[in-house]
Amino acid sequence: MSGWRIKRFIRPPAGSRDMKLCVIGAGYVGLATAVMFGKLGHEVTVVDVVEPRVRTVNSGKSPFYEPPLEKELAKLVKRGMLKATTSASGAVKDAAAIFICVQTPPLPSGKIDIRPVKTACRDVGKLLRTADGYKVVVMKSTVVPGTTESMVLPLLEKYSGKKACEGFGLCMNPEFLQEGSAIKDSLEPARIVIGSMDKRSGDLLMKLHAPIKAAKIRTDLTSAEMIKYASNTFLATKISYANEMANMCYLFGIDSEPVLRAAGFDPRIGPLFLKPGLGYGGSCLPKDVNALKERARRAGYRSRLLTALDAINESQPGEAIRMLEDAAGPVRGKRIAVLGLAFKGGVDDTRETRAVPLISSLLAKGAHVVAFDPMATPNFIRLMPTIEYASSAAECLKGADGCIVQADWKEFRDLGRKEFSTMRVAILVDGRRSLDPAKVEAAGARYLGVGYGLARGKGR
Ligand code: UDX
Ligand code: UDX
Repeated sequence: MSGWRIKRFIRPPAGSRDMKLCVIGAGYVGLATAVMFGKLGHEVTVVDVVEPRVRTVNSGKSPFYEPPLEKELAKLVKRGMLKATTSASGAVKDAAAIFICVQTPPLPSGKIDIRPVKTACRDVGKLLRTADGYKVVVMKSTVVPGTTESMVLPLLEKYSGKKACEGFGLCMNPEFLQEGSAIKDSLEPARIVIGSMDKRSGDLLMKLHAPIKAAKIRTDLTSAEMIKYASNTFLATKISYANEMANMCYLFGIDSEPVLRAAGFDPRIGPLFLKPGLGYGGSCLPKDVNALKERARRAGYRSRLLTALDAINESQPGEAIRMLEDAAGPVRGKRIAVLGLAFKGGVDDTRETRAVPLISSLLAKGAHVVAFDPMATPNFIRLMPTIEYASSAAECLKGADGCIVQADWKEFRDLGRKEFSTMRVAILVDGRRSLDPAKVEAAGARYLGVGYGLARGKGR
């Protein structure tokens, strides 16, 4: 991301600048939204209930590892275009639009926890009661279809004492950003979806997004919510499809990489999100698949596709262990290195990381696990406090009877003979297909990529 520059066309045209905006939630989505609008020339106040987070933002730092975002954030804070506070009152009073960007984490039932959204709506609603002028409330948090209309709207009306479309406007504007490229994805999105209750509030969001060159889709609130789920479940479908093909290729003794690459050349299929591996993690894909499945069930529809996506995803860590055991025998009593604990390389986020089911299965099989991540170890220790942690990839590999690469950190590609020669059994299972097989083998280790082909060429 380091070489990325914001394109010239993003310069805001006159008339779309200088609005005051309020963003509720200083997480990935909230800060990416705030930085985007700050860069477009607006004055943004970010509200968060967590005091240390507010202090971090006001010191020009990001509360999570996202270097390009931090760089832009620091510049905006310095210029006085972005500030954070724990108190929403002044921010809501002055704002033309209020963006709700609080988390909607998964519950064990598969549904999402909507309580943070309810709290935010109550707080914003109360402040709208005494605020002057027409303000637009924009839902950015991911919520299942129907939530904005059936929950957000009545809450805002109840606490503000005002009627939507008259006293305030309401929009649903889903985010599609990937962690690791949050700012780029916000300023150069593939599309912008603006769901609105009325034309007036949709027009304001159109004006705010005017400098951004992207397809803009205007729709109603519930369709906007569904577009987010339709998009993320399709991405999950591509990944689970790739994993199924890769599992078959492994058994047929062929490499899935050229197979999926060739399939991806067909524009109807497309090359992205066809990388097999340990499955999809992160704050969105697993959660969105399950939440939509639950929402459909409540409407009387049993989604076989979404059930299958989840089942395939859950079995992928087991595939990597099977591969390791096929090559080196049972893991019981062995020291297994796990490289990469974040849900993907380049981030410190461990939400729904596949490292948890992977390591849990290894432990259940009686293996001793030693783990390393360049950035995510502190977050991961909270999830699994009792396993052994190494302070570098080299230390992690030392004395190991095999290694599984769980996240595609760039630095793992630089591992070579010096590190592999310290392993007791130099076998690497590349759970993300991110290493160069020839390089690994030239450095004296055996390479097994998920979907790489059992015994290379000897099909069953
Ligand atoms: C986002 C979306 O909003 C979520 O719906 C989507 O599915 C995933 O991405 P994210 O930005 O990752 O969530 O959330 P997180 O990083 O947890 O940040 C949310 C922030 O909101 C936290 O800092 C939290 O303290 C804050 N918050 C929450 C408030 O300020 N007020 C509240 O009432 C609740
Ligand atoms: C995702 C969506 O991409 C984004 O549009 C949405 O708004 C939020 O959720 P993010 O959570 O940052 O973004 O992760 P993403 O890069 O999509 O990866 C999700 C998971 O899928 C990771 O665990 C990744 O390793 C895995 N993945 C991705 C694969 O296994 N194969 C692939 O080909 C791509």
